[in-house]
Amino acid sequence: MADFHKNILYYDFHWDYPKLESGKGVFLYDKDGNEYLDGSSGAISVSLGHGRADMAQTLYDQALKMAYIHRDIATADVGERAAEHMHRCLGMDRFFPVSGGSEAVEIAGKIARLHFVKQGKFAKRHIIGRWMSYHGYTGNAIAYGGNPARRKEYNAEIYNDYKIAPPYCYRCWFGKDPATCHCECAHALESEIQLRGQETIAAFIFEPVSGTSLGAAVAPAKYYKAIREICTRYDVLMIADEVMCGSGRTGTWNALDHFGVRADIAAYAKSISGGYFPVGVAACTEEVAAPIIEKGIFSPGFTWSGNPIACAIIDKTLSVIEEEDLLANVKKQGDYLKERLLALKDKHACIGDVRGLGLMVGIEFVADRKTKEPFSPHLSFGQRVEEGCRKHRMLTLGTARFNRGVSGDGIMVGPNFEVRGEEVDRIVDTMDTVLSELELEIKL
Ligand SMILES: Cc1ncc(COP(=O)(O)O)c(C=O)c1O
Repeated sequence: MADFHKNILYYDFHWDYPKLESGKGVFLYDKDGNEYLDGSSGAISVSLGHGRADMAQTLYDQALKMAYIHRDIATADVGERAAEHMHRCLGMDRFFPVSGGSEAVEIAGKIARLHFVKQGKFAKRHIIGRWMSYHGYTGNAIAYGGNPARRKEYNAEIYNDYKIAPPYCYRCWFGKDPATCHCECAHALESEIQLRGQETIAAFIFEPVSGTSLGAAVAPAKYYKAIREICTRYDVLMIADEVMCGSGRTGTWNALDHFGVRADIAAYAKSISGGYFPVGVAACTEEVAAPIIEKGIFSPGFTWSGNPIACAIIDKTLSVIEEEDLLANVKKQGDYLKERLLALKDKHACIGDVRGLGLMVGIEFVADRKTKEPFSPHLSFGQRVEEGCRKHRMLTLGTARFNRGVSGDGIMVGPNFEVRGEEVDRIVDTMDTVLSELELEIKL
């Protein structure tokens, strides 16, 4: 295990971090050759297996050919190839590569704003988000998000504070059942737009499948069609934050594709680079871009936006996903993973819910399955599951406080797109062992 290095600002100065050195496929290795199963692809980030020579070669080739040009000054074939490829796969029309998910969300918000500014609609400046969501740690991204724990320390700086309830069927905020509800959580958007004044609202931002703030919660089937209709009616743009759930993670190129809906603007990151380079992408439809293009200038961006290495790695990642038919594998192994985790419910009463799409699966733990009473936050149940997995050499992502930021524990599981059936078995078997041990420890 790693000693804390005096020159690093760690995430958790009490955590027992494994010190890793290499990786192959779904496994990571420390200096002594101990093998760790990468059960959550980092933070549901890595889409391709570790240690791929073709990905390393792509980085090398592009770096040697031309590592950097600035997008305000020059353009290159590699950028055009990546954009065309993203258009073919992701279905958006205009792309703006950046260096991560938060940057992609920042640019997505600015596209929405500029779309209206360029038409003289200056009052359309606010973006409505959802409680229990996460869009990144930069200024606007954290403000669009509604994860109380992550916002708490920065509240003084948060100004964009329009939020609606999330589609969280396991603990519906409206006390409804998904089979019989009227999608009250979607219609809350209409009320919020009306109350704030539609002339002031530029966009609605959401994670098509919730990330760590709600542990892969999936909206009711009719939710996004209702959201689409409301947004169109009020001239409010739909921004899909596909950073975690997009680029194939759920078995379709966009998570929103499962719902038969197209967003106006989207943000991608994580899986879109395979995990081999820090990349994000903001994207929009031609209709959204049109007023900006007509006026001639799209001003926002960063020094590294659209750099050739990022574009080469995006192009290559999409090719690998297509050539190796990885979307089909995500679907197959994702279904199998969920089915096997659901079967664990019979053995472990602490499993309240298993949810998600494709290889983005969340487990929510409860003290009482019948009443859905969460564990006391003092138990840090989710964190202890994560710790237990690590002791058994499996890396997963513990999450907490699904229940309005107060309580609720979970874990996210999501291996890379190349995962095989026997590796899924190992994930589930390890989880089974860890839960049995924890149940004994805290005398459930
Ligand atoms: C849905 C979502 N949006 C945005 C982000 C921020 O991305 P990044 O950490 O690359 O800035 C994340 C990160 O986990 C995310 O899950």
